[in-house]
Amino acid sequence: MSTNAERFARLEQMRDESRLGGGVERVARQHDAGKLTARERLDLLLDPGSFVELDAFVMNRSAAGESFLGDGVVTGHGEIDGRTVFVFSQDFTVFGGSLSEAYAEKICKVMDLAMKVGAPIIGLNDSGGARIQEGVVSLGGYAEIFLRNVLASGVVPQISVVLGPCAGGAVYSPAITDFTVMVEDTSYMFVTGPGVVKTVTHEDVDAEFLGGALTHTTRSGVAHIAAPDEAGALDTVRGLLAHLPQNNLSPSIVVPGLDPADRMDPSLDSVVPDDPRTPYDMHDVLRPIIDDGAFLEIQPGWAQNIIIGFARLAGRSVGIVAQQPAVLAGALDIDASVKAARFVRTCDAFNVPLVTFVDVPGFLPGVGQEHGGIIRHGAKLLYAYAEATVPKLTVITRKAYGGAYDVMSSKHIRGDLNLAWPTAEIAVMGADGAVNIIYRDEIDGAADPDLERSRLVAAYRAEFANPYVAAARGYVDDVIRPSETRPRLTRALAMLADKRDMNPRKKHGNIPL
Ligand code: HXC
Repeated sequence: MSTNAERFARLEQMRDESRLGGGVERVARQHDAGKLTARERLDLLLDPGSFVELDAFVMNRSAAGESFLGDGVVTGHGEIDGRTVFVFSQDFTVFGGSLSEAYAEKICKVMDLAMKVGAPIIGLNDSGGARIQEGVVSLGGYAEIFLRNVLASGVVPQISVVLGPCAGGAVYSPAITDFTVMVEDTSYMFVTGPGVVKTVTHEDVDAEFLGGALTHTTRSGVAHIAAPDEAGALDTVRGLLAHLPQNNLSPSIVVPGLDPADRMDPSLDSVVPDDPRTPYDMHDVLRPIIDDGAFLEIQPGWAQNIIIGFARLAGRSVGIVAQQPAVLAGALDIDASVKAARFVRTCDAFNVPLVTFVDVPGFLPGVGQEHGGIIRHGAKLLYAYAEATVPKLTVITRKAYGGAYDVMSSKHIRGDLNLAWPTAEIAVMGADGAVNIIYRDEIDGAADPDLERSRLVAAYRAEFANPYVAAARGYVDDVIRPSETRPRLTRALAMLADKRDMNPRKKHGNIPL
């Protein structure tokens, strides 16, 4: 008969075995590949000593050959800045991190717990996909996870980090989550790998170009942030969570800081150039307005004609959406519409107020845009803003033309406070386009058509290219000096802190996907 001392010793021995994952040699191979182990990653992600593991003794049920305690995924809960989060960390040293029935059950268990207590879920992905030995059982396991991703969507924040392979159907869990962070050079995501691509389409492509971090943060928009290394990626997760509440019923996060709420910045009065055709960098507008100039930009490398990200105003987290006049003159195209629409919905789901900076000449013209469905994709952004019930503040810095004026959090779609700078031009279209259409006959019939066009453009600009026509109708609530923007926004946020607004009861809306 065993003594208690022997029983305790056995427990310690099994714990040690479980912590080793696939064994010393495979751990060394993981390190040689420039990657950390599943547990080392959790140590970096979570507050020191806060990780509580669950299901360390779960084992693969159907393995022919080797079996490992924990079966290739480390799951549990821990804390980030003192707040509870649930985690799963795929262990590439065990069957290449591939997903088995037991492994999927472990992930589902922490997802269910996260939903029960209303806490974020963070998935660290490093896996060869479905465990080949388990066949359809593994596919069922993936589907169980996808279902939970969908049910948790908009209820608790979900963040995916891709730290190695993430291929085949496995990509659809990160795709459903709110944010995906990738590591440069060591991570990749694709539905079908380079070999299959070569067979089917005869294209020669490597894993990095097909689905590396650079590709997904600059070309596809699949991932939100690329970090140079694993520590940077995990730190990014902590940064994102600092702006997201625990769940959809928690209020937005306020972290009191030292930057005075009523601080005015005179540099703002000279950011917008005198000539309305000269571009400027919208970051030069954002930086002096937000707390300490600290901006966590999301998808900075994709659809750069629109800027999205998190900042604080008098300590309160806000989601910023802003045109970038320095890229495509800030026009809304397909990618920019999709990028901003998704972010607006993420903020709205988690009670993060929206602050929108508008300088938009309209939707981007062109056959490619029309045939690509700019109507359908632009409608996503309109839908997202109209549907959002969080506090919505809007600042028109320069152009707000045409349909894009309506879309960009206008008063008509429930903007709570809409401000315009004196440099704002709120009109159906720019002066040149408008004059060419409405005065075509006058221009054609004039002795000097160019002179006549210039005269008419100047007259149109004087009459319409300003904020006062809109202000006279209450479409903007006030016209302010740029330097006053921060105090006005911080006061508005305080005023709107207890905002209540609702949409009609429905099963769900039908956003044009
Ligand atoms: C079981 C797997 C595995 C898998 C890797 N391994 N993938 N075991 N099922 N899917 C094991 C290997 O046998 C090896 O075991 C160890 O993991 C490391 O694999 P290596 O090939 O040595 O590593 P590396 O060279 O880094 O290549 C990694 C890899 C490659 C690119 C991921 O292993 C690979 O292509 N695996 C298969 C990928 C795949 O086709 N998966 C199914 C996709 S379909 P040892 O014992 O040597 O350590 C899918 C459907 C999802 O996922 C459905 C959702 C709807």
